[in-house]
Amino acid sequence: MAVLDQLTSQQAIDLENKYGAHNYHPLPVVLSKGEGVYVWDVEGKKYYDFLSAYSAVNQGHCHPKIVGAMVNQAQTLTLTSRAFYNDMLGKYEKFATEYFGFDKLLPMNTGAEAVETALKICRKWAYEVKGIEENEAQIIVCKNNFHGRTTTIISFSNDPVARKNFGPFTEGFIKIEYDNLQALEEALENNDNIAGFMAEPIQGEAGVYVPSEGYLAAAKALCEKYNVLFIADEVQTGIARTGKLLAVNHENVQPDILILGKALSGGAYPVSAVLANDDIMNVIRPGNHGSTFGGNPVAAAVAMAALEVVKDEKLAENAERLGKIFREELAEFAKENELVTLVRGKGLLNAVVINDTEDSSTAWNICLKLRDNGLLAKPTHGNIIRFAPPLVMNEEQLRDCIAIIKKTITEF
Ligand SMILES: Cc1ncc(COP(=O)(O)O)c(C=O)c1O
Repeated sequence: MAVLDQLTSQQAIDLENKYGAHNYHPLPVVLSKGEGVYVWDVEGKKYYDFLSAYSAVNQGHCHPKIVGAMVNQAQTLTLTSRAFYNDMLGKYEKFATEYFGFDKLLPMNTGAEAVETALKICRKWAYEVKGIEENEAQIIVCKNNFHGRTTTIISFSNDPVARKNFGPFTEGFIKIEYDNLQALEEALENNDNIAGFMAEPIQGEAGVYVPSEGYLAAAKALCEKYNVLFIADEVQTGIARTGKLLAVNHENVQPDILILGKALSGGAYPVSAVLANDDIMNVIRPGNHGSTFGGNPVAAAVAMAALEVVKDEKLAENAERLGKIFREELAEFAKENELVTLVRGKGLLNAVVINDTEDSSTAWNICLKLRDNGLLAKPTHGNIIRFAPPLVMNEEQLRDCIAIIKKTITEF
């Protein structure tokens, strides 16, 4: 078989199974093209994408402005490493820091790398600014978190599948219940070694758990009271997904450290970043941290275009408006359909909880039927289906999708 031969779906699946590590369990559909809210499989069948590559493709597939910026830069200069300056990084750093309201940005590539970077900055700040004794710093995290896949990050995960046989793990993390301010205050008081508190403003992978109103603002206030950094992991919730530019904006919170990834590039290229003000970011000096690809000119061009699209096309406002319609419609539907327990979420980050046990295959089977009916979604944890379409969707398309979801579940 020549490398460029057109494959059937089954051939593509067989190749991955034979030659790829089995670290994922994809829904059986093989995509070969995307545009806006749509993707097409290799046989030419068209689907609504209701996952958006886990909220990376907020600006829609192959957005012409983002792809244009990428192609243009790829034909000019792709990589210099940070051994030299390039003429795009500084422009991007100015643009993004003004966009999000921070003094400085540290560029990385994937979400997990940005999380690692944030943890390192937080620890260094704790030793050099807060005055914690070396190697004693602790960072508070939440149960059921998902922050990525590195050894340090899985050290504070409580997902047994993600952790089993990957030890020994990194020390220095305290896990508390999510959405529990009392647990946070108990962890903070009488412990002078706490450097930071890291949380997802909505727990995405855990099943789109939206914390109680006021939780984020109160958590930030507690962090201030105890001189601890509030680190917001907005890799999944950020960049207009939840109906505001950042999910913390719903509570007017400015984190001390902001972590971004995924939609920072509109899904066109791996681009992540950590943002903070000078009093924190200045603990990082030459040689402390880096990445060959972090801050490369293509990433810089792509990220600026992707962020411009978010504002130009008012994606946060659209997510806010369509998200309300989605939840209203499905909440009504849940009342009359016993397979749907509830719908929850914010903006266009939503989940439907299926009325079955966590280890059942009902949600998976519903996703297979949704696929057959032209809509792609994926269960998160067992019986929870996440619904997160590109934010460029219009109301007519959303109503079409709601009809597909209702019909599929009714017929199930
Ligand atoms: C909140 C959060 N943080 C970090 C990550 C890791 O990002 P990446 O897969 O790009 O390493 C994810 C990915 O889903 C995420 O949802």
